[in-house]
Amino acid sequence: MKIAIDGPAGAGKSTIARLLAQRLGLRYLDTGAMYRALTLAALRRGVSCADEEALLRVATSMDLEIVFDPETKGNLVRLDGQDVTALIREPEVNANVSLVSSHKKVRDFIVALQKEIARQGCIVMDGRDIGTVIMPDAQWKIFLQASVEERARRRQRELQRSGHAVDLQELAEQIRQRDHFDSTRAVSPLRKAEDAIEVDTTSLNVEQVVERVLSIIKGAGEDV
Ligand code: CDP
Repeated sequence: MKIAIDGPAGAGKSTIARLLAQRLGLRYLDTGAMYRALTLAALRRGVSCADEEALLRVATSMDLEIVFDPETKGNLVRLDGQDVTALIREPEVNANVSLVSSHKKVRDFIVALQKEIARQGCIVMDGRDIGTVIMPDAQWKIFLQASVEERARRRQRELQRSGHAVDLQELAEQIRQRDHFDSTRAVSPLRKAEDAIEVDTTSLNVEQVVERVLSIIKGAGEDV
C-alpha cells in the first residue's frame, strides 16, 4: 500500500501522514525533511543556496539518515551523525529550503533516493510532488489544503513551542511567498495530481482530518 500526501506549507501534511502511518501500520517518510537537512548542511558549510553545483556536492557528501523515532512515531533526522530533527525546522532553514529544492540537479539526486524508498511500498510519504513524481502509482493521493491565515496560525504555534516568537502577518506573507515559489518553479512544482482527493483542513482539527482521510481510504469519502 502506498499513500501520497501533498499540499502547501502548514496544511498539516507531516502530522497527518505520521498519524495515518501509525494507524495503518505503514512506514512514514517526510520528504521535506530531506530538503531541509540539505539546506541546513549548506548553511553550515557556508554554501550559497543559489549555487546548484555546490549544493549538489553538499548533497552527495553529507551523511543523512532518516530513521523511525519510536518516541514521536515520526522521523528522526541525523545529519553527519548529529540529531537535527528540531534544527531543520528553524526559521533560517524555513527561509532557504524552497530555493534549495528548486534546483534540478538537487531534485534529481533527492528524488532518486525517495523513489528508491517508495519502491519498497507499505509507506505514507508527504511532500509536494509525491502523487505526481515520487509515487504516481500510489493507491491513495490526498491533497491537503487550508487557508493562508490558518496555516500561518499553525506555523506560529509550532514555532512558539520551539521558543520563537514570530509575527502572524509576517508568517502569512512568508507562506504566501513559499506557496508561490513552490507552485511556479520549473522542476516538479507543487500541484494537485489529477487523481488526488482534496481535503480542506481549515476548520478541522488533527483527529478530524485523520478520520476524514481514513474514511476516504475505506471508500466512504466521495463527498469530500
Ligand atoms: O512543513 P512544510 O510544508 O512547511 O515544509 P516541508 O514539507 O518540510 O517542505 C519544505 C520545502 O521543501 C517546501 O517548501 C518545498 O520547497 C520543498 N519540498 C519539495 O520541493 N518537495 C517535496 N517533496 C518536499 C518538500
